[in-house]
Amino acid sequence: MEILILYYSRTGAVQSLAQHLGRGVSSIEGMTPRIRTVPPVSSVTEATENQIPETGFPYVCETDLTECDGIALGSPTRFGHMAAPLKYFLEQTTSQWLSGTMSGKPACVFTSSSSLHGGQESTLLSMMLPLLHHGMLIVGLPYTEQELSDTKTGGSPYGATHFTGPQNQSRLDNTEKQLAQKLGARLALTAKRLRSNP
Ligand SMILES: Cc1cc2nc3c(=O)[nH]c(=O)nc-3n(C[C@H](O)[C@H](O)[C@H](O)COP(=O)(O)O)c2cc1C
Repeated sequence: MEILILYYSRTGAVQSLAQHLGRGVSSIEGMTPRIRTVPPVSSVTEATENQIPETGFPYVCETDLTECDGIALGSPTRFGHMAAPLKYFLEQTTSQWLSGTMSGKPACVFTSSSSLHGGQESTLLSMMLPLLHHGMLIVGLPYTEQELSDTKTGGSPYGATHFTGPQNQSRLDNTEKQLAQKLGARLALTAKRLRSNP
């Protein structure tokens, strides 16, 4: 069984979170992460991106959505909500929305921002909305995870987060890593349980 970890990242912070979510998914027996990204969008509408990115994870395609058993969706915080490339991709999922491809599958969200109170939670909540329209079942983090109460950086009951600092200088600290991995594991476990008890 596979969990699609779909993210956009320009400077690497959200990509780090994605990789830790992937470790969490792999910690559940029989579960494999499938990490995918989306192309950037251009203000020059005629410009097109290469079909395959020059570095990093492959671009997401329709079969990734069909074949996965759950989705983790990640984006940088941009003006308090998700980045345009991810939203642009989601707006191309009308056929999956109409056919219910993702309906009943579990999902979670993650983000990164350069200021601590600069909109992580609003970004996470806004990312849940299209997933709910798709009929997905949202998985969060409970306060029984001690790191949620202890954190001095990222981490939210609404999803995994990372605080990079104003110059994007901070790497994920141990608390942020732990919470990202725990969220990935919860998502994978939920997908597994739903598969055995549909
Ligand atoms: C256009 C733009 C808008 C941004 N808006 C916010 C914001 O509202 N709040 C915030 O804390 N950081 C904001 N940031 C900073 C990014 O969220 C932060 O650098 C993030 O960690 C980048 O993730 P990435 O390395 O995965 O690209 C913004 C950055 C850009 C480029």
